[in-house]
Amino acid sequence: MRILFLGDVVGRSGRNAVIDHLPRLIERYKLDFVIVNGENSAGGFGITEAIYLDLIDAGADVVTTGNHAFDQKEALVFIERHDRMLRPLNMPVGTPGKGVGLFKARNGAEVLVMNPIGQVFMGEYDGPFVQIERELLACPLKHGADAIVIDFHAEATSEKQALGQLVDGRVSLVVGTHTHTPTSDDRILPKGTAYQSDVGMCGDYNSVLGMDPTEPISRFLTRIPRSRFEPAGGPATLCGMAVETDDATGLAKSAGALRLGGTLSEQKLVFWLESAPPRS
Ligand SMILES: [Fe+2]
Ligand SMILES: [Fe+2]
Repeated sequence: MRILFLGDVVGRSGRNAVIDHLPRLIERYKLDFVIVNGENSAGGFGITEAIYLDLIDAGADVVTTGNHAFDQKEALVFIERHDRMLRPLNMPVGTPGKGVGLFKARNGAEVLVMNPIGQVFMGEYDGPFVQIERELLACPLKHGADAIVIDFHAEATSEKQALGQLVDGRVSLVVGTHTHTPTSDDRILPKGTAYQSDVGMCGDYNSVLGMDPTEPISRFLTRIPRSRFEPAGGPATLCGMAVETDDATGLAKSAGALRLGGTLSEQKLVFWLESAPPRS
């Protein structure tokens, strides 16, 4: 089956890119399942219910988040109404919403999606690895789920690589999010798990992590906050990773990073998708 993951959607520019392009990508590449990280989709900070619904309407099967999950306070309430939204898995007991779910794909397959958050440079969270192991034990690949995707929302590439190595051969796809900057280490690990330390954001890369550069530069120069961070409004690059899994094993047959449009456009991703075996 074919799965596409899109990284942190930042502001209106990122949203519009997803809404404009995702339906076409699903159709053109016969995607069975799409996951979008929406943690920065509302003005750069959090997600509203209306935006969540827009992303679902555009074709997202699951919307993941991260440390900004509850920046928009309405998310504390609407997350309980919407089955296809995830917040970080390893948040304190009693946090609204859930961090893992089993979802039905267009081809009828069951996909387990997990949204753990890292501990290194990320603040106080429970240990993600122990909770991930618990979920994998409860719902192993090919026994509980036809495919398993982990969106590991973390800062440190060391923590992300450690998770990739830990679950290699037991998960279809591990992608990092949160840094808003794509890494060039997309590949299939030795035992069959597709992996990329960070898929990058869906936003305007002529920016500082998706924000207009003026205020971030000012704060680095003077240490004095002068105004709010505002999302940059130029054309967004869609960044993510696509994987085609082997139906027999649930592991990756082919995989590659995707960068589409905007200032980071890279044809490699499109080439990978076009070169993938046709669907029967
Ligand atoms: Fe983010
Ligand atoms: Fe984040």
